[in-house]
Parts: sequence; C-alpha cells; structure tokens
Amino acid sequence: MSVISSENVNAIIRKTLSLVNPKIIAHGEITGYILYKMLEYENLYSEQELVDYTMLGILHDIGIYKEENVKDVVDFETKNLWTHSIYGFLFLKYLSPMGEKAEIVLYHHLDFNRYPLINSKYMHIIECLNLADKMDTFMHMKNAEMPPDYFSRYRDIAFSGRALDLFFRAERVFHITEKLAGDAYQEELNRLLSKQVFSEKYKKGFLEMLVYTIDFRSEHTVVHTMSTVNFAEQLGRLMRISGVELRNLYYGALLHDIGKLCIPLNILESSGRLSEEEMKVMKAHVRITEMILEGIVDDDVLQIAVRHHEKLDGSGYHKGLTEAELTLPQQIVAVADILSALYGKRSYKEAFDSEKIKAILNSDASNHKISQKVVDCLMMNYDSVIANYEAKKEATVGLYLKIKEQYTEMSKMFEKFNR
Ligand SMILES: [Fe+2]
Ligand SMILES: [Fe+2]
Ligand SMILES: [Fe+2]
Repeated sequence: MSVISSENVNAIIRKTLSLVNPKIIAHGEITGYILYKMLEYENLYSEQELVDYTMLGILHDIGIYKEENVKDVVDFETKNLWTHSIYGFLFLKYLSPMGEKAEIVLYHHLDFNRYPLINSKYMHIIECLNLADKMDTFMHMKNAEMPPDYFSRYRDIAFSGRALDLFFRAERVFHITEKLAGDAYQEELNRLLSKQVFSEKYKKGFLEMLVYTIDFRSEHTVVHTMSTVNFAEQLGRLMRISGVELRNLYYGALLHDIGKLCIPLNILESSGRLSEEEMKVMKAHVRITEMILEGIVDDDVLQIAVRHHEKLDGSGYHKGLTEAELTLPQQIVAVADILSALYGKRSYKEAFDSEKIKAILNSDASNHKISQKVVDCLMMNYDSVIANYEAKKEATVGLYLKIKEQYTEMSKMFEKFNR
C-alpha cells in the first residue's frame, strides 16, 4: 500500500492551502481547469504533460503563501506581481517534481508585448496560463482593476490574442464557463488528476513541496522539519526499523508539524516564552495536522504525525496517551522532535551544546516522558547522528538558503519588467 493515493495528492494540496486562504486555491483550480481545457482542445499533449500543466495551473500562485497576510486575490494579482511569480517559480523548481517546467509559472504575469524579451520553450503554455489566469480574475473580479472591454482593448498587448481565440474555440466545444458556474469542473479536475497514476517519487515530491512551501514562512519551522525527519530516520535505522515501517516513519516526521500553517507567525517566531494563551494556540497545531491528514494519508503515517507531543506518562497532548498505546515509530518521532528543537537555533533560544542536550533528554527519559530505549540508542550514537545530520544539512537547509538568495537576485533582474 502506498502512503497516499494519486487522487489524494490533489486533495491534500487543496485541503492544506485552503486552510491558509481558500480564495487562492479556488482561483488556482479555476485557472488550472481553464488551462487544461484549452490544451485538451489542442490535442497535442501526452496525458502526463496535461497533468503537469494542469498542476502548474492550479499551483501558479503558490508563491503567495510566502506572504504572511494574504488578503484579497485582487491585491496580489495586481500588486507585487513579481514577488509571488519568482517565489512560485523557485518553490516549484527546487521543491516539486515538475522543476523543469517551473518557468511557466515565473512568466504568468508577463505582458504579451514583452514576450520577445524572454526565451522559453514553453511560450505557448505561458500565454495560455496568462490568459486563463486573467479569465478567472475577470469573471470574478470584474469591478476591480479590469476594464469591461479589457479583452478587446488589450489584445496582443497584455495577453495573447492567439490564446484568446483558442479559449473561445475550446469554450464552444467544452462549455468551460458553464462548468465553472457549477461544481462540474472540480469533478473533471479530480478525474484528470486521479487517472494519472503518479509514481511514488512524484507523490513524495509533492508532499515535500507542500510541507516546505508552507514552512517557508518561518525559517525555524523549515529547519525544524528537516532535522526532525533526518533524526527520526537515523534513529529508526539504528533501532532496526525497515521497509514500510521506516517509510511511514519518514512521512510521519515530514508531516508532523504541517498543522503549523494555521499558527500566526508572531507565535511561531516569538522570541520570548509563550503566554498561556499563545501556548494554547500553538498546541492546536496537532489537531490541525490531524484534520489535514485524516482520510488522506495511510493511518500509520497519520498516527505517527499526530502523536509527537504525547508523553509516556500520559501528560502529553492532545490525547494524553500512555506508553502502552504508543508504537516505537511514534516514540522515535517524539524524541527526534525534541532533539531537533534542542539542537537547532530557535527564535527564543540559541542552540544548546551537546552536554546540555544530553542532560535534558536523559532527564525526560528517566521522568518517563520519552522512551528510555530510544534515548539510550541516541546517547550511544550521539556524535555520529549529529555528524550525519550536519553532512546532509547542506542538501536541505542549504536549499532553503539558496532559494532565498536566488529570490533576491532574481528580483533585481526582474525590476525591468515592473511597470
Ligand atoms: Fe499570479
Ligand atoms: Fe493567478
Ligand atoms: Fe509539534
């Protein structure tokens, strides 16, 4: 059995991103659908290509999730065009399984009359996505920034006339706007995306992209997730976990804090001790994680993810389970989570030295909060666990820094496109 079905890859993306802002994902799905129907009409693409382009259509505004306060769709689509285009491009390029096609998203706001300035083998998909995006913006936000005669007035200036003609041909055959008025388009999207059997690698890529894109709001959270995954995997191997169980451990650790997407940044990045009220909000991330993953991922993965704050003596949250109810992988992620928090630099603390970390973990174990067996195993291998993590950190945390760096560079490069 796989961790997540192909169908549920789309479901988890929708569920997660809706929690941050339902308007953006709704806009993404409509845009993705319009793009899909335009390309389907042309009948030039393989099924995999159609799925990839539709996915890119759905995710074209994913760069917006970098912003803390996502307000109105009109707001982000008319101002700061390049901020979210560049972030979206970088997320998709480095974090998704569709990296090679990510430039389609980079140029989704580029005006048609500037196309000669760029060079991409995806020019046609770019002009179609640009139009699909504008179509939805036009249909839903007529009264905002778009003049009513937009499509006649700005033909071949702001958008491609060829793409518009294609849209109308597809509209005559597929009745796109009619489908969009009801819910029929969502079923059709689901059908397309589930028909395609994603490889395990493709699905893993999407889950990682989702987690890291969301975590990107807060540097501490990204680094924390990455190191928890790494520590849990290492401890799992050391404790002779293998096969499906090890795979579940990996996904459980990867998804364990996904619910933090609903926690405000001022709490995630708080530099002081959290007040009681703030702590309550913070603790809610476990329930949110449960809500997101329920019915979507394998149940073993779900349970590993949502039990990382349980304590062996029953004093943890959110269920207050006890040792007998907690499996070894669940106990491992609980230890990996604490180790990651102690080892990493957090907003409220500097990194601790190894003596202090060991002392805290040992005392937690002897107080029957976390597994003595897991802690013993960690103590015996402490230096190599840390060394392995440090060696692999480049590939993960380094990627995060690279994205930030490239963002700054590209923003300068793209200044010339600003009106
Ligand atoms: Fe956009
Ligand atoms: Fe958009
Ligand atoms: Fe947590």
